Amino acid sequence: MFTSIAPRYDLLNHLLSFNVDRLWWQRAARSFASILSRQNARALDLCCGTGDMTLSLLQQARSSDAHILGVDFSHAMLQLAREKSRGTALRWIEADALSLPFADAQFDLITAAFGFRNLADYDAGLREIARLLKPDGECGILDFGEPGGMLGIIYRIYFKRVLPVVGTIVSRVKGPYAYLPASVERFPRSEEMLDRMRRAGFREASWTPYTFGIAGMYRGRK
Ligand SMILES: C[S@@+](CC[C@H](N)C(=O)[O-])C[C@H]1O[C@@H](n2cnc3c(N)ncnc32)[C@H](O)[C@@H]1O
Repeated sequence: MFTSIAPRYDLLNHLLSFNVDRLWWQRAARSFASILSRQNARALDLCCGTGDMTLSLLQQARSSDAHILGVDFSHAMLQLAREKSRGTALRWIEADALSLPFADAQFDLITAAFGFRNLADYDAGLREIARLLKPDGECGILDFGEPGGMLGIIYRIYFKRVLPVVGTIVSRVKGPYAYLPASVERFPRSEEMLDRMRRAGFREASWTPYTFGIAGMYRGRK
């Protein structure tokens, strides 16, 4: 599904979010600036797609010895990420986020932007993140939420009625942009997600709403 929308993925992201997606990636990456500016920082961006979150992490890495990897299981997405990051030290790996080809306790930071929600097993995804983090390492999961109140009503109309139609027309692929609102509905609410993080071994689990809760970041420390 993701491979089929890869050619128009960036265009649709910016169009359908009115460019707010860029602010979300930057805000999430900025919140990890202290980790990324450490010497020899090792960061992994899961479900990296075409690499925008990964590139935002790179912007926050002050020293040139930071090792930042992007992982995705869609070859087409990674090819685009590779093109966008030519000339940088970013590295890209094709792998499944539920079974990653790394030894335990390798990373200071693991992020996932708008990808974690798609995993077939959220608890297994969290356990895999916990396995790969060094003790005291942190994870940041940026994903959609569902705002309440009047904004929530307008947002749901946009998300369920307008976005699937525009997404289908521009991507010329039927399916993925109707799947998007369904996947957000399936995603646990913030309290449940925080419980799952604690059960997977994360301390200081927190959720910070972005843009009135349309998106938000889950954060936890191993
Ligand atoms: C909505 S895109 C998000 C891409 C990017 N992080 C962003 O913020 O634009 C979700 C990405 O997750 C990837 N993905 C979904 N499930 C995955 C899995 N189990 N392992 C690796 N990548 C996965 C898809 O291929 C897709 O590129």
